[in-house]
Amino acid sequence: MNVTEKAQEFITESENSLHNGSFVKLSLGNYHGTDESLKNVYIKKVLIKKEPRLSLAYRHKTRDITKNHTFEEVTEMLKQWLGTEFRVATLQTTDSDILFEMHPSGKATLKKKAVANREAPALSHDKNKNRLISPADKGYLFDLKITDQQGNVFHNAQDKFRQINHYIDILSSLIREIDPGKAVRVADMGSGKGYLTFALYDYLKNVLKLDPQVTGIEFREDLVTLCNQIAQNAGFAGLSFREGTIDQFDATGTNILIALHACDTATDDAIFKGIEAKSDLIVVAPCCHKQIRRQIEKHRTENDVSFLTRHGIFLERQAEMVTDGIRALVLEYFGYKTKVFEFISDAHTPKNVLIVGTRGSRNEKSQAAALEKIREAKRFFGIEYHHLERLAGI
Ligand SMILES: C[S@@+](CC[C@H](N)C(=O)[O-])C[C@H]1O[C@@H](n2cnc3c(N)ncnc32)[C@H](O)[C@@H]1O
Repeated sequence: MNVTEKAQEFITESENSLHNGSFVKLSLGNYHGTDESLKNVYIKKVLIKKEPRLSLAYRHKTRDITKNHTFEEVTEMLKQWLGTEFRVATLQTTDSDILFEMHPSGKATLKKKAVANREAPALSHDKNKNRLISPADKGYLFDLKITDQQGNVFHNAQDKFRQINHYIDILSSLIREIDPGKAVRVADMGSGKGYLTFALYDYLKNVLKLDPQVTGIEFREDLVTLCNQIAQNAGFAGLSFREGTIDQFDATGTNILIALHACDTATDDAIFKGIEAKSDLIVVAPCCHKQIRRQIEKHRTENDVSFLTRHGIFLERQAEMVTDGIRALVLEYFGYKTKVFEFISDAHTPKNVLIVGTRGSRNEKSQAAALEKIREAKRFFGIEYHHLERLAGI
């Protein structure tokens, strides 16, 4: 029992690091399986035909054999291997070392140690193609002032360009979890200057070779005009930007709904549009969390964490976690599987949490459980209503 739990925790840490880009490498050792010559397996992330994969180096006594697999295949392998064939596993991420160990007593342990200044390696394999979005021949990157006309990334845009690629890296693995063929109608709510909207369209159209319809929704007219002009210059016929508010947008038929840093309850409006449209994938990076913070502050409920939340900064963090935790519960109520993880280092922005919902099926038992948790959370923190809960009418 303890082994399965610890192994699952290790697998979850691995999956999170793969999704949020902090994965460095994973090693398996202390082999007890049937292959007499096998000693270790070393796993690293690679790009194959621009798709992220995991490369497994099987180290035998006298030779190495390398095989490539998808993330999902490796998750299944780890489930089979941990604690049985391999008794030790180490995951290195950019911020920690995580050690799974199965002891002779039959008990398993998981140890996590923080590390500093470790970078994720550049992806190897397809040499010179280690970015899903390459800067060469990309008129839109020039128009967005990321590159010069020759495709050289400007010095002051290096960070932005890395972020764009990191974002596409994360989305590409999320898209693989749904049927990639479904990634056709995409809405990017609060698209701003469109950096990520353009990159996503480029990835879907030119890397995945789909025929996507991507729409950016933005209430600033100047940005909509600018982005439509750039899309036209780039010949991106399936990409358009519309002026308007998120809550007014008709999202019918949207397969993938994205909202990155849409302010306060605009994130709830976006999530609800995705739920209504039965989108396969909903990806939001919340911005500020004023609606819930105001209510928590107003009621100042005495609870077990009042000793923390009398400090403004902890109150702020609590408001963030409660707002986003309830968002995840509402998604679960509607049958979505959820993941919440940090998607860029907080050195770039403190607004770095990504909430991901992948559409599954609803069942009464889990709906009732999600509702109960929402009610409990509201009671505990003194919240009258959560904007998303009100939109959803639950
Ligand atoms: C912080 S920017 C983020 C832009 C882009 N998503 C990104 O991550 O680079 C948020 C954008 O959302 C727009 N916005 C905020 N609330 C909105 C709403 N309710 N409807 C439409 N646009 C909204 C703002 O005008 C702004 O351009």
